[in-house]
Amino acid sequence: MRQLRFGLFENAQANDSGTATWRYPENKRHLFDTLAYWQEIAKICEDANFDFLFLADAWGWADVNGSRPDICSVEGLDLPRLDPAIVAAALIPTTEQLGLVITGSTLLEQPYAFARRMATLDHLSGGRIGWNVVTTGTAETAVEAFGVPMVAHDERYRMADDFMELVYKLWEGAWEPDALERDKLGRYADPAKVHRIEHDGPYFRSRGFGNTSYTPQGTPVLFQAGTSPAGRAFGGKHGEAIFLGGGTAEKLAEHVRAIRAEAVASGRRPDAVKLMSAFACVVAPTREEAQRKYDAILGAQSPDVAVASYAWFTGLDLSSYDPQTPMTDLRTELSQTQIARFAGQTVGDVLKDWHAHGVGVTPFVGSAEEVADHLCELAEGADLDGFLLTPQVQPGSTRDFVELVLPILRERGVAPTGYAATTLRERLIGQAEPTLPADHPGAGHRAAVSAAVA
Ligand SMILES: Cc1cc2nc3c(=O)[nH]c(=O)nc-3n(C[C@H](O)[C@H](O)[C@H](O)COP(=O)(O)O)c2cc1C
Repeated sequence: MRQLRFGLFENAQANDSGTATWRYPENKRHLFDTLAYWQEIAKICEDANFDFLFLADAWGWADVNGSRPDICSVEGLDLPRLDPAIVAAALIPTTEQLGLVITGSTLLEQPYAFARRMATLDHLSGGRIGWNVVTTGTAETAVEAFGVPMVAHDERYRMADDFMELVYKLWEGAWEPDALERDKLGRYADPAKVHRIEHDGPYFRSRGFGNTSYTPQGTPVLFQAGTSPAGRAFGGKHGEAIFLGGGTAEKLAEHVRAIRAEAVASGRRPDAVKLMSAFACVVAPTREEAQRKYDAILGAQSPDVAVASYAWFTGLDLSSYDPQTPMTDLRTELSQTQIARFAGQTVGDVLKDWHAHGVGVTPFVGSAEEVADHLCELAEGADLDGFLLTPQVQPGSTRDFVELVLPILRERGVAPTGYAATTLRERLIGQAEPTLPADHPGAGHRAAVSAAVA
């Protein structure tokens, strides 16, 4: 079995749908807006040799059709948040090797400014930055807050493609890697190696010089997590690491096969894309203790969070229906998947299910050996490259995994025992160079390559 890669899922907000609630007495998530919280989490990750800390992000909030906006502020759900790019920047000086991966939306960000922000982080961190590309589909409230129109699902991926082409031009083509001379008696940069870029795409336009020089990784390591046909095609073309939402080995294997096939269809090697599944566990010395702990964690989450979180995905306020209502009676213009998933069940069943894990992964409850066995079975059965640990209680869940499960995985030779290289790309993707490989579409925008093609 190959050596597995590990990342930690985080979210710069107090609550999370499902079981991750700041209300649980030992959870420190209510301190997410303090630097000390993030430094503690980052240190645990780095001491455990995790490849990266991932800061998820979303704009908007669960409005439940305007009927229960109070849930967000009462539960600390979706509101308030911090900007993940700035949290990542704050962690650069307190970490040395840990990768810092942040979510950024191709629907709501301005590519020219976003490219500079990411390049700044990559410079300052010495090449430890990754970007989880999201097209932002669920929150109507987000587009209203930005004052921009909503864009339909597949069109959002075409827009994302255009966004990528522009940022590749800025990251890969605008400044050659050796443009900077910094010669006090001569030039700061060689103008022959600084190029104007021009982009006139269907959604984005830009003309002129890039605002930042070539960074240690050029393009930040590209993460993605869409599983729709358009999402998989986008991931197979641009993604270097893909997050999967968890599930059985069979279900994960199907996604893995489909995404590797998309990579091949885009002219890349099937293993050019690293597949990492979200994974949650409640672990204790015995399964019984773990189950008691899980029950206590579940008991701390307010049932209102399930109502708000489900509404965020579907626009439907399940608390306004009789719990006996069959799910097949409901209609939505938003996520059809989140209704179809529950065919044959009632509104009451769904609220109970959502309370246990939200849209995320169901935690595996067991002893450390059982968790380790389960991870190895999933990795082997689905041909996974690694896992994204999604904690319920912070820092408790992460510590439990690191102290109880990781030593077993190390003993089996499937978890890293140190950091092999300094840039995130070299380590996570397992390549010799810190920059995009030649078969990645971004590499085609390098100045020398474009000149040769022209
Ligand atoms: C582990 C994981 C992390 C994700 N992180 C985010 C995130 O930070 N922000 C976001 O808007 N969506 C996030 N998503 C959702 C996906 O990016 C994607 O929007 C969703 O799967 C719908 O895409 P699709 O319609 O192509 O399937 C995440 C999904 C998974 C599985």
